Amino acid sequence: MEIIRTISWMKETVRQARAENHVIGFIPTMGALHEGHLSLIRRARVDCSRVYASIFLNPTQFGPNEDLSRYPKTFESDVEKLTAAGVEVLFAPEINEIYPPGFRTYVNVEGLSERLEGRSRPGHFRGVATVVLKLFEIVQPQFAYFGRKDAQQVRILQQMATDLNLNVEIVVCPIVREGDGLALSSRNTYLNSEERRAATVLQRALDEARRELNAGTRDALQLQAALRKILSNETLARVDYVEMVDAESFEPVSSIGARPVYALLAVFIGKTRLIDNLFIEPAAGQNAPASSL
Ligand code: PAJ
Repeated sequence: MEIIRTISWMKETVRQARAENHVIGFIPTMGALHEGHLSLIRRARVDCSRVYASIFLNPTQFGPNEDLSRYPKTFESDVEKLTAAGVEVLFAPEINEIYPPGFRTYVNVEGLSERLEGRSRPGHFRGVATVVLKLFEIVQPQFAYFGRKDAQQVRILQQMATDLNLNVEIVVCPIVREGDGLALSSRNTYLNSEERRAATVLQRALDEARRELNAGTRDALQLQAALRKILSNETLARVDYVEMVDAESFEPVSSIGARPVYALLAVFIGKTRLIDNLFIEPAAGQNAPASSL
């Protein structure tokens, strides 16, 4: 695997690959790679003749009191994992390469960015959209792969791609979980053993919502209450938000109907903030236009 540090060399590499008619699949990451990231790479391997990944710990998507400085850094083992997964090129620029002195242009996807994650983390999605647009411009992928774990993030990036007429297809991939249901996240390493055990409450709550749905509950408040009840039984858990939202607008819904919905959770386990979600597709026969979701 080739490791590229500069934009100019990355662009040259892409130019050559495109001239040879390669289909480039791209997986942007912030490193500290786990099976969730690797699942995106495996999916890209199926679709594309060249798989490029990036590792860039993007400072503009972290708030002043967030975990930028202590975010796990495991570059050497990340390189081993990407090599084993068959990635051809890793783009791993320094901060100054992406944000040189004088940088002052940001992308803001209005309306989708202010609620939920955006409310708890002001400016977060501005940082995400800005860096992903820059990475798309540099890597010029035909396909880019994102996890449904960060449901609001991928929805915002799809909107950005539509609004700015980007020549990239955004592919949404399923959430990868540990054996006990905890969604894989680089932030899970912050949890001590007691918190790690408590963290399974997110999946247990979502399981309960799924059970209620299967039993016929369609009322969003009732599903939300069921989620909150499970979460409240865990003393180490403190809810940031629990919401049922339309999967396209991310606006709250009052009931589950013919359109896809997310049950979204953000929960502090001790000092660590974890997110998870359940994607609720309409029942068979109720054909919602889910193709873009
Ligand atoms: P990062 O948190 O490193 O995640 C990179 C990609 O991996 C994202 O698309 C995320 O949704 C996906 N991912 C993480 N955990 C996953 C899991 N358990 N199952 C499936 N996919 C999972 O998300 C970011 O980085 C950044 O915001 C980025 C898009 C790179 C911009 O800086």
